[in-house]
Amino acid sequence: MTKTFLANALVGLAAFSGLVTCSPTPSKEDKTPKPNWYDCPASLSTELKCLDVTVPLDYDDPDGETINITAVKMITNSTDKIGSAVFQWGGPGFPVAVTVAQDLNGTAESFFQFKDRFDIVAVDPRGVGINHPVKCDPKHGKENWFDAAYPNNEKEFNDGLAFFKELGESCANRTGKVIHHLDTVTQAKDLESVRVAMGVADHTISSFDFTSTEITGTANDMSRMLDWAAHNESSPLKGQDVRGMLREIVAKADETPIRMPGCEKSGTCQAEVNGNTFRGTIVAFLDHPLGISGGFPLCARSIQEAYEGNYTMWATLNPTRPYEWDPSYSELGIICQDFDFDEDWERFQQTQMTTAALSPDMEGCDATRIWSMGCKGWPTKVTNPPHDYKITNTSAPILLVHALWDSSTPYQWAVRVNRKIEGSVLLTREGEGHGSLAFDSTRKAMFDYLVDPVKNLPKPLTVINEAVAHNETDGFSTRPLALNPPDFDAA
Ligand SMILES: *[C@@H]1O[C@H](CO)[C@@H](O)[C@H](O)[C@H]1NC(C)=O
Ligand SMILES: *[C@@H]1O[C@H](CO)[C@@H](O)[C@H](O)[C@H]1NC(C)=O
Ligand SMILES: *[C@@H]1O[C@H](CO)[C@@H](O)[C@H](O)[C@H]1NC(C)=O
Ligand SMILES: *[C@@H]1O[C@H](CO)[C@@H](O)[C@H](O)[C@H]1NC(C)=O
Ligand SMILES: *[C@@H]1O[C@H](CO)[C@@H](O)[C@H](O)[C@H]1NC(C)=O
Ligand SMILES: *[C@@H]1O[C@H](CO)[C@@H](O)[C@H](O)[C@H]1NC(C)=O
Ligand SMILES: *[C@@H]1O[C@H](CO)[C@@H](O)[C@H](O)[C@H]1NC(C)=O
Ligand SMILES: *[C@@H]1O[C@H](CO)[C@@H](O)[C@H](O)[C@H]1NC(C)=O
Repeated sequence: MTKTFLANALVGLAAFSGLVTCSPTPSKEDKTPKPNWYDCPASLSTELKCLDVTVPLDYDDPDGETINITAVKMITNSTDKIGSAVFQWGGPGFPVAVTVAQDLNGTAESFFQFKDRFDIVAVDPRGVGINHPVKCDPKHGKENWFDAAYPNNEKEFNDGLAFFKELGESCANRTGKVIHHLDTVTQAKDLESVRVAMGVADHTISSFDFTSTEITGTANDMSRMLDWAAHNESSPLKGQDVRGMLREIVAKADETPIRMPGCEKSGTCQAEVNGNTFRGTIVAFLDHPLGISGGFPLCARSIQEAYEGNYTMWATLNPTRPYEWDPSYSELGIICQDFDFDEDWERFQQTQMTTAALSPDMEGCDATRIWSMGCKGWPTKVTNPPHDYKITNTSAPILLVHALWDSSTPYQWAVRVNRKIEGSVLLTREGEGHGSLAFDSTRKAMFDYLVDPVKNLPKPLTVINEAVAHNETDGFSTRPLALNPPDFDAA
């Protein structure tokens, strides 16, 4: 489970991870009909309630074609319920409805004490999970995308573009019109439509930043990890030249790729480990905090194993995408409408040089390469390109939470969002990893805030020093990714 998640996360640079709350008070003049929550289909869980919200396919054409967005609810047993807490994992591309179902089944522990006071509401963004997921021809999911994303010369650059273009065309073909309407502004409008349909008065969004590109994001934490592996007392490689070892492993794999018969047989992981497998996969370790999903310690072990000739872990972390739907397809679908990767071969090399200069260990390869290569030939327009914004006159207290050493979405992004949203408070977790829900003290601060956002809003500049997550078996570490979610459209 953990491995599946790690593997998928490596292309999952979460651009936002959020928690949205609804106050339970319906507005007095609200004429919206009472929401019709019904038992979800058995494919998800009949213990959950579902609500279909009809929204425009294209918000610029409000009287045109419509689609349904389905919200999912786990009803709390609490006798002193506060309201509903709306969850979204971001990614973009990670499904949340199925997490709620699995939590109910007792196989995930994602909602911690929140479910003791709140109904848990989950809305898969359009293009994701149960809501019109981006589907592609799985034959392209068998390829090692890092080979297409890390070109060494102009020919490889053009071949990479051609590969992703063909992938994109198959996605447009299988997904239908909705693929043209997945940008983040549209997603936000969907959430607002859900709020209205639920008949609740207000929303507080805790973290939302899609409007900036910073190519060097993933480079942030690489040298911290290598230093940890070389010096920390609990590292299996303490006292060794870990940088040198990694360089050696990658060079060797570049020269002679390693066949993985087990993967070939199962079809769930790449049949070959090569240099790009290491370049692309190492990001997965950075995203995950110490103590959960292995993080730094697991990375040190995997370097040691590969050095000794055992590539199993690296192969497992580089999965194939065997189904018609995969979070990475949704991710491209959303990202490609939010970012403008207008780079020819010359500019691509320039970016590569910049990244390499900032983080030599990354060799100029970071996980955003899949976006910049994948989006150039993607069959949709950039409808919500990065732009400046300023949010003022907010009526609700807004809490932003970010980890100082988050390698996917660098801390400076959170600082910027904080400055752009007047009156927002940024709570800093001093620690590694992407996402803070699995960290007890940080999560408690979020919970307290949701219980009473006015009274319990942390003071500006609050820092919680918390590097080790709750435990290895819950939170995001077990966040399940159903690779083939129930298809509500077909039901
Ligand atoms: C949307 O949801 C409503 C309410 O459940 C349902 O009556 C309608 O058939 C759905 N429309 C589509 C296109 O699925
Ligand atoms: C509420 O209680 C029932 C019966 O104990 C249990 O099956 C269900 O999972 C509980 N719901 C939540 C959200 O904890
Ligand atoms: C929950 O458990 C039931 C019964 O074992 C199973 O059919 C269903 O697929 C499970 N749901 C999830 C989301 O894991
Ligand atoms: C589009 O779909 C049709 C029918 O499913 C198929 O014949 C065609 O090859 C597809 N084109 C692409 C580019 O996937
Ligand atoms: C070594 O790493 C662990 C986490 O695995 C951490 O708790 C500890 O503080 C580190 N030791 C030093 C000396 O930094
Ligand atoms: C190779 O690595 C895998 C993954 O860490 C491990 O489970 C397995 O035991 C290792 N095999 C050998 C022969 O050490
Ligand atoms: C600020 O918000 C209040 C209440 O929503 C509204 O009445 C007022 O016009 C707003 N002021 C500005 C400058 O937008
Ligand atoms: C992890 O946390 C859960 C509660 O959420 C607890 O039941 C379990 O025992 C914990 N596991 C470990 C290894 O601490």
